[in-house]
Amino acid sequence: MTETKKRSEQKLWGGRFEESTAASVEEFTASIHYDSRLYHYDIMGSMAHARMLAANGILAKDELAAILNGLQEIEQEIATNRFVFKKELEDVHMNIEKALVDKIGPAGAKLHSARSRNDQIALDLKLYLRDQCDRMVTLLENSQRSFVKLARKYFGSLMPGYTHLQRAQPVLISHHLLAYFEMFGRDRERFIDCRKRINISPLGCAAMAGSGLPIDRQQVADELGFDGITRNSMDTSGDRDFAIEFVSCCTMTHLHLSRLAEELVMWASSEFDFVRIADKFCTGSSIMPQKKNPDIPELIRGKTGRVVGSLMSLLTLMKGLPLTYNRDLQEDKEQVFDALDTVSASLQIMTELLENLEFQTTVMEQATTTGFMTATDLADYLVLKDVPFREAHGIVGKAVAYCLDKNCELSDLSVAELQQFSPVISKDVFEVLSVQGSVDSRISEGGTSSQRVQEALLTAEKQMGISE
Ligand code: ARG
Repeated sequence: MTETKKRSEQKLWGGRFEESTAASVEEFTASIHYDSRLYHYDIMGSMAHARMLAANGILAKDELAAILNGLQEIEQEIATNRFVFKKELEDVHMNIEKALVDKIGPAGAKLHSARSRNDQIALDLKLYLRDQCDRMVTLLENSQRSFVKLARKYFGSLMPGYTHLQRAQPVLISHHLLAYFEMFGRDRERFIDCRKRINISPLGCAAMAGSGLPIDRQQVADELGFDGITRNSMDTSGDRDFAIEFVSCCTMTHLHLSRLAEELVMWASSEFDFVRIADKFCTGSSIMPQKKNPDIPELIRGKTGRVVGSLMSLLTLMKGLPLTYNRDLQEDKEQVFDALDTVSASLQIMTELLENLEFQTTVMEQATTTGFMTATDLADYLVLKDVPFREAHGIVGKAVAYCLDKNCELSDLSVAELQQFSPVISKDVFEVLSVQGSVDSRISEGGTSSQRVQEALLTAEKQMGISE
C-alpha cells in the first residue's frame, strides 16, 4: 500500500481512492467552519438513529451503549471548547463520526448504517430551524409587547398620518404604533406556519432512494418530536423549500424593521422632531460636535439588504437543480445562518430601542393643525348632508384653494365664508373641522377613533398577557 493510499483511507469515504485529496480541494469543499454550529442537532439525530438501529436489530445493545456514551462525551467536549474540528474532515457529520470511531472503535463505524449525509444534513438543518422558529416567535412577541406598551403610554396623543409622505389625516400615535404590532404579528404567524413544514422528518431517506435495511423511520421521528415523516425519498434529499421559506419569513420581518427604521430616522431629524432616541442608542460625529446620529435604525435599514440578498442567493441556488442531492446544497447554510443572525440581532436591538423611545407629543400634535388635515372630514360632512361625494370633493377643494390664498386653515374660516362654497354648511361644521373631532369620527372597524384604538389596545394587551 502506497503512502498516499494510506492517507486517503483516513477519509471516511476514502476506500476507492488511490490519491489523497488536494489541499486546495479540502479547503474549497470544507463546510466545517460554519456547519459546526449544528453539532448539537447532529448528535441528537445520531442518538435517535442509533436507538432505532438497536431496536431493529442492526446494532447490539452494548454497541448502542458505547455509541450513546461516545456521542455524549463528544457533545461535552464541543460545548466546553475541548474539541478540535478538522478541515480535512469536511463537515460536522464527519468530524463527529470520526471522533466517535476514534473513541469507541468498530461500534462507532456502525452508526452510519441506513443513513447518508444527505438525509443527515436535512435532519440537522430541520432540527435547528425548528428551534429557531420558536426563538423568532419569542423575539417577535417581545417587540410586539413594546409596541403595545408604547401605544398605551401615548394613548390619546395625536399625530399627522401620511400618504405619499404628505400630511393626510390626523391619527392617534397609538394607532400608528399598533400598525407595527399587526405587522410583527403577521411575521410571528408566518414563523409558526413555517415550522409546520419544517417539522417533518427526512431521516431514513438515506442517499435518495431509501434504505434496504429494516429501519423504522417513524420511531426516529417520534423520538425527535417530529409531526411525521416525509413521503418521497428523492424529494426529501434534494429539498430546501423549508430553508427558503424560513429565510423568506426572515426577509419579511426585516422589511418591516426597515420601514420602522426609516420612520425613526426621519422622526429623529430636526425637520420632524417627533421622537427622541435615548443617548445610549445614538452615536456622535467625529467632526461635528452638535450631532447625535440615529445609527441603530440606519444600520437596521441597511442590513435589510443582506437578508434580501440571502433569500436571492437561496432562490438562485435552487433554480434548475436536478433531483436529488447536489453538492450545491451545501451553499444553503451560510445564507440561512446570516439571514437568521441578522434579523434576530436587528429585532432585539430595535425592541430595546423602542423601550427607550420618547415621543415629542406637543410637536406631533402641533403638526396636525396645519396642512388641511380635516379636509376629508368636511367632505364627509357634506355627504351626510346628501351632497354626492364627488361634488363634495370639489367643494372642499375650492375651500382649500381659498384658504391657501388667505394663508389660513379651514377651521379659521367663518360660517359665512364656508357657505360661499355650499349652502348646506352650518355652524355644526366646526365639530368636524377640529382635529380631535376628525380622529374620533373614524369609528369604522380598524379606524383611528379613540374608541376603536382603545378596543384594539385592549385586545393586543390581552393577547400579550399585559394587564392594564
Ligand atoms: N456538508 C454537506 C452539506 O452541507 C453534507 C452532505 C454531503 N453529502 C455528500 N454526499 N457529499 O450539504
